[in-house]
Amino acid sequence: MNPARRTHYLKALGITRWQNRTSVLEVDNKGATHPKDASAIESSPILGGSITFDQLALEAAACTRCALHKTRNRVVFGSGDVKANWLFVGEAPGREEDRSGEAFVGRAGQLLNSMLFALGLDREDVYIANVLKCRPPDNRDPGGEEVAACESFLHRQVEWVQPLMIMALGRFAAQSLLKTTESIGQLRGRMHHYEPFRIPLIVTYHPAYLLRSPLAKRKVWSDLLLARRSLIR
Ligand code: URA
Repeated sequence: MNPARRTHYLKALGITRWQNRTSVLEVDNKGATHPKDASAIESSPILGGSITFDQLALEAAACTRCALHKTRNRVVFGSGDVKANWLFVGEAPGREEDRSGEAFVGRAGQLLNSMLFALGLDREDVYIANVLKCRPPDNRDPGGEEVAACESFLHRQVEWVQPLMIMALGRFAAQSLLKTTESIGQLRGRMHHYEPFRIPLIVTYHPAYLLRSPLAKRKVWSDLLLARRSLIR
């Protein structure tokens, strides 16, 4: 891909460039991204992956693994500091995110900003991603096949960011990252780990739920404090 076009593309996706390595992906004349050598992607080790974060974002931008690619306007890959200590994982882009290409910019995003502020953090200090990178039509729940099709992107984002703490926001993030069917009520209030890399993980309510049930804010605050205490220790 032409470098200027690539930069424009990444900027439009809200992605910060931070690493410059030889590309192992190529984009075909339909705009789909393919590895030049499939083994390069499969052999990506922790913190030394053969593909860069940018290349992963480009792969997501061209993804057609599930039917959501037919209805999306923008792929919402994720945003923030790719070396952050904190990784916040939500469910899926909503209408605003699908329009802008950036995660958590609607009303739930404003509440997430307040949660970050309460922790003394800005959006730029953390990395924010979703289980699904494309909006389910009418904001319906993610389907099992969609989650399965998308989960390697989230897995590889975690691999790259290597956060010290993952906050799973809501049922879909919690169940997908922890590979469980337990409810938020059962999962919150204690430490878990994202097993592939043994990264500490705390489950809490999704900001969209807090907009409907403001009384749950107290529980979310206690989950955030639990996460912060565990980080400081
Ligand atoms: N809800 C989510 O889970 N993610 C977003 O990016 C926006 C709303």
